[in-house]
Amino acid sequence: MANLEVDMSNIQEGQTVTVKWRGKPVFIRHRTAADIAAANEVDVSKLRDPQTDAERAKDPNWLIVIGVCTHLGCVPLNNAGDYSAWFCPCHGSHYDSSGRIRKGPAPYNLEVPDYVFLDDGKVIIG
Ligand code: FES
Repeated sequence: MANLEVDMSNIQEGQTVTVKWRGKPVFIRHRTAADIAAANEVDVSKLRDPQTDAERAKDPNWLIVIGVCTHLGCVPLNNAGDYSAWFCPCHGSHYDSSGRIRKGPAPYNLEVPDYVFLDDGKVIIG
């Protein structure tokens, strides 16, 4: 299956871009300092799907997740919800700035796809 190369150089801090990969939306979020701080101040042991932010973001400035709610597959809205990150309007799941489920019916965090950063501000997803 095809990999996808994305130039991230035009994605401003605070912006989330949605690209399509293998028929699914993928969110690329250029996180702010506040996003990163919020993602790290969580007590991971209290999370429904416990993962540290470092396990989810290879570079803290960037979060890359598949934009499919782990409840029943709707596409969450960017910059929405109680954690100012993602909100799934179908049944009310709130995800934080690390894409982790924090509130609502979804059982798992937003999935992190395989990806590698290149030296020139690009990322290859897949
Ligand atoms: Fe997202 Fe149900 S599909 S909350």
